[in-house]
Amino acid sequence: MPTRKLLTLCLAAVAASCSPGGRQRHAGTQEDPFVIGMSQSNLGEPWRVQMDADVRAAAEAHPELRVIFKDAQNNSLTQRSQVEEYVEQGVDLIIISPKEAAPLTGPVAAAYRQGIPVIVLDREVQGDQYTCFIGADNVRIGREAGRWLREALGGRGKIVELKGLMTSTPGQDRHQGFLEGLELDTHPALSIVFSGEMQWLEPNARREMESALATQPAIDAVYAHNDPGAHGAWLAARAAERADEMMFVGIDALPQEGQQYVAQGILDATFLYPTGGADAIDVALRILHGEEVPKRITLGTRIFTAENLAQGGEAIH
Ligand code: FRU
Repeated sequence: MPTRKLLTLCLAAVAASCSPGGRQRHAGTQEDPFVIGMSQSNLGEPWRVQMDADVRAAAEAHPELRVIFKDAQNNSLTQRSQVEEYVEQGVDLIIISPKEAAPLTGPVAAAYRQGIPVIVLDREVQGDQYTCFIGADNVRIGREAGRWLREALGGRGKIVELKGLMTSTPGQDRHQGFLEGLELDTHPALSIVFSGEMQWLEPNARREMESALATQPAIDAVYAHNDPGAHGAWLAARAAERADEMMFVGIDALPQEGQQYVAQGILDATFLYPTGGADAIDVALRILHGEEVPKRITLGTRIFTAENLAQGGEAIH
C-alpha cells in the first residue's frame, strides 16, 4: 500500500476514535466500556434514590457501559464541580439531574461545547447547550392537579399551595400549570389563601403548613409540588387536629411513597412523575452509538386516587 494512502487510513482511524471535541473515547466494549458520569442533585429524597436505582438497573443490562455516580447533596456549587470533574476525567457522556437551572447552565454548556454529550434529566437548565432533555411535562402535571382540585372542590374553596424550589424548573412549571388548571378568573369562589416555598423538603412543608394553619381558619385543600411536601402538610394538619377538614394532593406517586399515602387515606390524589432513569440509559446508548436523538423527550403521567389505585392509576392523555 502506498505510504500516502496508509497515512490517510491511519488518520481516519484516529479521527473515528475521537469525539467531536477531539477527546479519546472508550470503545464501548466489555473490555473498554463507555463511561457515563451521572450527577444527582441530592440523594436525600426517595424519588432521587429511585432515579439512581433506575439508571443503575438499566445500565446493568449493558456490560459495555460503566456509570459513575456522584451526589451533589443539594448544593449547586458542588454539582458544578462534579460536571467539571467529569469533563476533566474524560467521560464519554454526562447525565445530570440539576438542582437549579441558572447555576448549572454554564458547566453543562461547557461540557457540551467540548464534545461531551449531556443528557439533562427532570429539572432543566437554561438555553439549548445540551444534547437531550428527558422529563415529564410539569406545566401539564400542575394543570391536571389544578383541574382535579377545582372539580373535587365543586368550584369553591380555600387552597394552600406548597411550592418546590422556585429556582428549579419543576417548581416554576407546577405553579404555572396549577394556576391554569384552577381557572380562578371564572371561579371566583376558589382562591389560594396561603402559599409557601418548601423547596421540595418535608420538614419545610410541615413548618410552612403550621403557619398556614395558624393564620387560616378555613382550609379546604393543600396542593404540594411533591409528595414529601404533601405528607409534611398532612403531619402538621393532623397535629393541629384539622387534617379531616381538607384534601391533600401531591406529585411523584412512587409506589413506596405517594401511592402508599393514597392507600392510607393521607393523600386524595398524586400524579406520577417518572424518574426517566431507564430512558436516560436508553438515550445514552443511542448517542454513544452515533445515532441522532430528539432534543426533548417528554414522559407521560398518571393520576392515583383511592378509586383507581388497585388498577395502577389512570393514564392522563
Ligand atoms: C426530588 C424532587 C421530587 C420532585 C422532583 C422535581 O428532589 O423534589 O420530589 O418531583 O424533585 O425535580
